[in-house]
Amino acid sequence: MKIVIIGGTGLIGSKTVERLRSKGHEVIAASPNTGVNTITGAGVAEALAGAEVVLDLANSPSFEDKAVLDFFETSGRNLLAAEKLAGVKHHIALSVVGTERLQESGYFRGKLAQETLIKAGGLPYTIVHSTQFMEFLGGIAQSSSVGDKVHLSPAYVQPIASDDVADAMAAAALAIPVNGTIEIAGPERWRLSDLVARYLKAIGDSRLVEADPEARYFGARLDDGSLVSDNNPQLGKITFEQWFATSARK
Ligand SMILES: NC(=O)c1ccc[n+]([C@@H]2O[C@H](COP(=O)([O-])OP(=O)(O)OC[C@H]3O[C@@H](n4cnc5c(N)ncnc54)[C@H](OP(=O)(O)O)[C@@H]3O)[C@@H](O)[C@H]2O)c1
Repeated sequence: MKIVIIGGTGLIGSKTVERLRSKGHEVIAASPNTGVNTITGAGVAEALAGAEVVLDLANSPSFEDKAVLDFFETSGRNLLAAEKLAGVKHHIALSVVGTERLQESGYFRGKLAQETLIKAGGLPYTIVHSTQFMEFLGGIAQSSSVGDKVHLSPAYVQPIASDDVADAMAAAALAIPVNGTIEIAGPERWRLSDLVARYLKAIGDSRLVEADPEARYFGARLDDGSLVSDNNPQLGKITFEQWFATSARK
């Protein structure tokens, strides 16, 4: 089966490409670096010709509010229109657990716009909602740093390793469309401020984490239910300690 992975050069995209190729599928890793751009449309029709399944694993190059919204709206519209013309049978996208609860955040308004386009798009689809990737802990610390202090909410998180996410995306590509949303999460629940403090200490970063319930997460105030799934999530296997021991420094 021909499968196109938009964002196939990214963190989750490249791991999903590997998994589906190893099962013998014809997999196109589509991204600007391979000549496929869902914003300009360059290379999209050519990549999609003969494809049955498309996974959208792209991300906005900028996290600035308007740039994110423009990215997901333009990319989503262009991609869904091209998929219809090409006769694609299943559109799969990766979004974030709690997207609908995090609408104070420009990033999550962009993700909701992406989901809304898919639901209205008329193609069979599966939206996979994931919790935060363990690989993103450094990015969370960076986004919440002021000088040598990191201000973070103590709300719950249940982070998932990218290898577990890629397993779920590859499985979704080979399954029938859900025409709805499934949720995935890691095996353990942590307080965000405690986990990032542990991560920074483990990598020898001297920044100190201050737990602050008012601290914003990409613009959104969190409560204990904001980032965790209440929707019977499929659980990954890899714990934080296992991930850190094998992957964190790669
Ligand atoms: N970070 C988290 O904790 C988290 C949690 C849940 C869900 N997600 C979602 O997971 C998805 C994938 O994230 P990631 O961290 O794997 O992304 P990533 O590593 O940043 O990769 C982004 C990918 O998007 C591609 N891309 C950028 N602009 C594009 C364009 N105009 N046309 C086509 N492709 C384009 C990039 O291609 P080039 O390499 O060619 O630039 C790259 O392959 C995102 O949608 C994100 O919202 C993230």
